[in-house]
Amino acid sequence: KLPSTIAPHLLARYDRHARDLPWRAPPGTPPPAPYRVWLSEVMLQQTQVATVKPYFERFTTRWPDFESLAAADEGELMAAWAGLGYYARARNLLACARQVVRDHGGRLPDTEAELRKLAGIGDYTAAAIAAIAFGARAVVVDANVERVVARLAALEDPLPAARPTVRALADTITPEPRAGDFAQAMMDLGSDICTARAPRCLLCPLRADCAGHASGAPERFPVKTPK
Ligand code: ADE
Repeated sequence: KLPSTIAPHLLARYDRHARDLPWRAPPGTPPPAPYRVWLSEVMLQQTQVATVKPYFERFTTRWPDFESLAAADEGELMAAWAGLGYYARARNLLACARQVVRDHGGRLPDTEAELRKLAGIGDYTAAAIAAIAFGARAVVVDANVERVVARLAALEDPLPAARPTVRALADTITPEPRAGDFAQAMMDLGSDICTARAPRCLLCPLRADCAGHASGAPERFPVKTPK
């Protein structure tokens, strides 16, 4: 069981130190357009934040909404995607924009179940969009969040077999409201502080809540099944 103080501690840090990223709204302001959340989450699926930024700016200038993207020339879109890799994502991007325009009146659906039916949207991306764009209490778990949660719990069960346990733990600490801010705060923590090799616990707002830190060897977590 994880301490109930985790979400308030993490959100307090997010309110002061959220990374300023072009697809985010500052804490306490209305969420960004679902189009921007969707586009950024698809771009971030397999690509680092620093690489994604200029692509996101170019795409949203050239194609500011689902209607314009659905009408895009496929060759032009593939050319604009060049350098991001994993080109199936670009084809799915166009397919998804066309589904949204044709089947949903140009508006992204707001539930995880409906989002998952769209091209290129899996469990993680559906949860991220539902939480960040629509304020749903969705549980957003990527590899960074898995690491943070395994450390908070000092979980000895090895990954990947312990994924369902990690997910259940993440569920117990996801707040309502502010599940989207919480998800993005977990991502920031995993990227800036709770890093894989050498976590910077002295800077961590969750130090007092963390069994991994208390163990004296937080870098041992997540335990992994030997290859
Ligand atoms: N990686 C995936 N989604 C992200 C987001 N919204 N902010 C920062 N990093 C992310």
